[in-house]
Amino acid sequence: MIPFEKIVLNELNRLKSKNLYRKLRYPGGFDFSSNDYLCLSKNKEVLKTLKKGIDLYGAGSTASRLIRGHRNVFEEAETEFAKLVGTESSIFLANGFVANLGLLDAIANPKTLIFTDRLNHASILDGIRISGGQKKYFNHKDMEHLKELLQKSDKTKPKIIVSETVFSMDGDIADVKELIRLKKEFGTVLILDEAHALGVFGKNGAGVCRIENYITEDDLAQINFRVYTGGKAMGIEGAFIACTENSKEYLINKMRTFIFSTAPMPCIAYTLIKSIQLIKEMEKERKSIQSNASYLRDTLVSMNFDTLQTHSQIIPVITENENDAIEFSDFLMKRGFDIRAIRPPTVKESRLRISINSEAKRKDIEKLIETIKDYKKEK
Ligand SMILES: Cc1ncc(COP(=O)(O)O)c(C=O)c1O
Repeated sequence: MIPFEKIVLNELNRLKSKNLYRKLRYPGGFDFSSNDYLCLSKNKEVLKTLKKGIDLYGAGSTASRLIRGHRNVFEEAETEFAKLVGTESSIFLANGFVANLGLLDAIANPKTLIFTDRLNHASILDGIRISGGQKKYFNHKDMEHLKELLQKSDKTKPKIIVSETVFSMDGDIADVKELIRLKKEFGTVLILDEAHALGVFGKNGAGVCRIENYITEDDLAQINFRVYTGGKAMGIEGAFIACTENSKEYLINKMRTFIFSTAPMPCIAYTLIKSIQLIKEMEKERKSIQSNASYLRDTLVSMNFDTLQTHSQIIPVITENENDAIEFSDFLMKRGFDIRAIRPPTVKESRLRISINSEAKRKDIEKLIETIKDYKKEK
C-alpha cells in the first residue's frame, strides 16, 4: 500500500506541474480582491460596536442555540435583517457556507431534483451532495435550458431551483424574474444566494431581489429562501437565510449545521445589526462602486480583454492559461495592487478576479489600468 504521506506529496507535485498549486498569501497593496465591498471591516463604528458587544455579551456563546447558546441579540439581528430584505423572518448562521450546506440538506432528500446553475458556489454543490438529492445542472444563466430540463423531469418528484444572483467569479447577474416565473410554472422551491449582491445592489443595499421596480411584492414572496453572508459587504462574518416564519421554524428543527454547532459569538450578531444600519445609508458608496466598476470594465474591454458578461463590482479578466493568471497577478501584486489569480477547479477558465470597493477612487482605477497596460507591453 502507498503510504499516505507519499500520496499527499504526489498530489502536491501534480498540482505544481499543472500550475494549480495554491499557497497562502497575506493581503498586500490596494485591495482589489476582497469582498469587503463597503469597507465595513475597517469602519470605526463597526469596530466600536464589536468591542462593546464583547463587553455586553462576553466571548463564546457556549453551546448551540437549541441548548444554552441562544441569546436575545440573535433574534434582534434576525428581525432587523428580515426587515432589510423584506421577508417575514430570517435565521442567523455562522457563515454562508454552512447556510447553503445546511439549507439544501434540510430541504432535499434523495427523491428531490435539484436544478442548479453550472456556476453556483461550492457550498451549494456540497449541500446538494450531502442531501443526496439528484443534481441537474443547467447551463450558466440559460433559462431555456432550465425550462427544458424542468419539462423533461418527473412531474411527481419534488424540485428545487437554486442560483446565485450576482455570480461570485463571473460578476454577472441571474435573470431573477425568469427564475421566479419558472418556479411558479413548475411548482418548485426557489433558493437565491445574494452573497455578492448584499450591500451593493438594490434599495438600501438589500440585494438584487430588492432592486427598485424589478420584482413585485407578490413575486418576491415566491422566493422560498434567500441566502446572504455577513463576511462580505457587511464586513464581519455570519450569514442569514431570509424566509417565512414557518420555514425558519422548520430549519431550527431540521438544519444540522444549525442544530449541531455552537452558536456564533453574540457580539457578531450585535455588530451585524450595526452593519445593517450602515448599509442602508451607503447609497453614495454604491454609486461610486458601480461607476468605477463600469469604467474599469469598459476600459478593459476597449483594451481587448475578455471580462465575460460582468455587470457588477466583480470583474473577471480571462487569461490565456493558469500560468498567465499567476504571472499577471504577481506583476500587479509587486506594483501594489492586491489582485489574485483564480484557477481551476474554482473556475473553468483561469482569470484575475478584480473587485471594486467603496474606497477605490477613480485615480486608483486609472493607476491600475496603466499598470495593466505595462503588463501587456512587457508580455
Ligand atoms: C455565492 C457564495 N455563497 C456563499 C458563500 C459562503 O459564504 P461565507 O464566506 O460566509 O462562508 C460564498 C463565499 O465565497 C459565495 O461566494
